[in-house]
Amino acid sequence: MYNTTAFLYERTCAFEVPQTTCEEIHAALLQAGVHPPGLLGDLGAGTGLMSILFAERGWHIHGVERSLAMIAEAENKKIQLPQAVQSRLHWTEGDITRFEMPEGLLLDAAVCLCNTINHLVEWPQVEGFIRSAYNALKPNGVLILDSDTVTTFERFFDHAPVVVWDDGIHRMTRTCRFDGSSGRAHHTAILERHDETGWTTVSEEGMPLQYHQEPKLYEAFLAQGFIVESGEPYNPFPVLYQGIIPKLLWVLRKPA
Ligand SMILES: C[S@@+](CC[C@H](N)C(=O)[O-])C[C@H]1O[C@@H](n2cnc3c(N)ncnc32)[C@H](O)[C@@H]1O
Repeated sequence: MYNTTAFLYERTCAFEVPQTTCEEIHAALLQAGVHPPGLLGDLGAGTGLMSILFAERGWHIHGVERSLAMIAEAENKKIQLPQAVQSRLHWTEGDITRFEMPEGLLLDAAVCLCNTINHLVEWPQVEGFIRSAYNALKPNGVLILDSDTVTTFERFFDHAPVVVWDDGIHRMTRTCRFDGSSGRAHHTAILERHDETGWTTVSEEGMPLQYHQEPKLYEAFLAQGFIVESGEPYNPFPVLYQGIIPKLLWVLRKPA
């Protein structure tokens, strides 16, 4: 996923009210004592949706993203922004499970948002991400990330085909299957395009997601050396996720 369907990401997968979510995470960063114009890592930056909102609040962004199609979406939006905001945005192709900062640069803070940690389906990938993020931060730096709860997997990542986008030209149909015993979900997105002959399938992309048990994440953060300042229930999808706890929002600090 996030290759042929990158252009639909923000309309089908992203945070419900990105401005509000950015404001909440920004407030959490300020409360943790880190603030613009610091260097903020956006790990698994996607289409730059959150990077841009943070840059508009004065942060300098170092984004890491593995999908070139997602980075291309981000770059297309960047060129329409005021020059001052553009100058604070930088995305690089990379793997957040084993990335390194450019020589001489360290992050004041980092975010890894919209269940990106659940995209790291093998446990060594999660450990690699935690290690890389820790090494990329300055002493006293802060990492904020959200992880999906098992309720989200059970209630929302296990369903028959649903049309999640149809503008008459493109149609995207998503199917999800969740295996509770392994914690593994599989999403499939079928993208079709309409022309004079009717609908033709353009692509079929698969995407595995993994539920990571919260105590296991907590132990892994501590094992790396992070101070876990909080791990609180978080709901950035108030319309979709009513009356449940869909995520934990983690605030982690690298010791000074
Ligand atoms: C659900 S999207 C979230 C995007 C963005 N953080 C946001 O809040 O809109 C997950 C993103 O993580 C990226 N991703 C997944 N695994 C990755 C990895 N190992 N290294 C870099 N990017 C990764 C995907 O390509 C995708 O763009």
